[in-house]
Amino acid sequence: MEAEALLNRLNEEHSLTAEELVTLLKEMTPVLKKRLFQLADETRRKYYGTQVYVRGLIEFSSFCKQNCKYCGLRRGNVKAERYRLTEKEIVDCAAEGYKLGYRSFVLQSGEDFGFTEELMISIVRRLKSRFPDAAVTLSIGERSEAFYRALYEAGAERYLLRHEAASRPLYESLHPGMSYENRLRSLALLKSIGYQIGAGFMVGLPGQSYGHLAEDLLFLKELQPEMIGIGPFIPHSSTPLKHAVGGTVDETLVLIALARLLVPKALMPATTAMGSLDPGGREKALAAGANVVMPNLSPLRVREKYALYENKICTGDDGPRCRGCIELRIAASGYEIALGRGDHYSYSRTP
Ligand code: 5AD
Ligand code: SF4
Ligand code: FES
Repeated sequence: MEAEALLNRLNEEHSLTAEELVTLLKEMTPVLKKRLFQLADETRRKYYGTQVYVRGLIEFSSFCKQNCKYCGLRRGNVKAERYRLTEKEIVDCAAEGYKLGYRSFVLQSGEDFGFTEELMISIVRRLKSRFPDAAVTLSIGERSEAFYRALYEAGAERYLLRHEAASRPLYESLHPGMSYENRLRSLALLKSIGYQIGAGFMVGLPGQSYGHLAEDLLFLKELQPEMIGIGPFIPHSSTPLKHAVGGTVDETLVLIALARLLVPKALMPATTAMGSLDPGGREKALAAGANVVMPNLSPLRVREKYALYENKICTGDDGPRCRGCIELRIAASGYEIALGRGDHYSYSRTP
């Protein structure tokens, strides 16, 4: 009963304390889950209707200077095959996506400083001049303030940088050599520069408690990012966390729905990790409050190499295949594919 009252209050006030969120997580029953997903779906429909926004994902480099314990691209994984796409290949991927109707592209890579500020500026400028009606999102890790500003000037308008863990001890245990302060500072900077920002976290990390998850949710409520990416942690066999258990689709759905109720207008992807754990995982995420999908546009020959985790979906499916597949999945879930830029509800860019 108490949990049900908390859920109703969360739905009305879009807020709960950390203790209340922990209670809700602990006392989640199948009946309550059903109600939670229904409320999350209603909330998303209030602002975005039945639209599901698509972003063409271009994984342009698998080099990474960081050593995150959970990730297959960490520099310590000597077995990882590294590649870089050329500027021309990146633009060609976007051109294919543009032909398929996409007007939003996500450039994603490890933290690869081989892609210098000059090179990234050139890539973003080319994309923006060739596809002026498309949005360009960067998902390339931490850079300097000058870099963030220069790329914004060049036309990049969104930046994904998951906070990964709002708890400092948990963050530090997973990210050797990285700075918790710098992560938070980067997110604040990106926001102040004018980017639409994306934060988020994984569910099921070793050492992650309900208390940590409540902290993550409240961190998102405080930050108010335009985008929130939440996915299950999937252990990779060539990382220090190879023997860890990993997250489940079921747990992750609860966190997606709670995030939707805490930050009602957020754009939230049904992540590839959800689809990789469960063939219907992305559809379930859409029904629990997610409203974005990110079909892959990377060249087929590199798909397997961009392995944050193993058994990733779509490694054998080219751009047009993923486009068709995604459209069917969205329609089968009772939503509609939205091919525009898919800006945040309350976003307007000052020229
Ligand atoms: N399982 C699931 N997600 C992962 N990421 C990195 N490694 C894994 C993994 N093993 C996530 C991180 C990163 C995003 C791009 O992918 O949260 O921010
Ligand atoms: Fe590099 Fe990102 Fe993987 Fe960390 S999560 S090792 S920064 S690619
Ligand atoms: Fe890539 Fe389904 S989205 S094959």
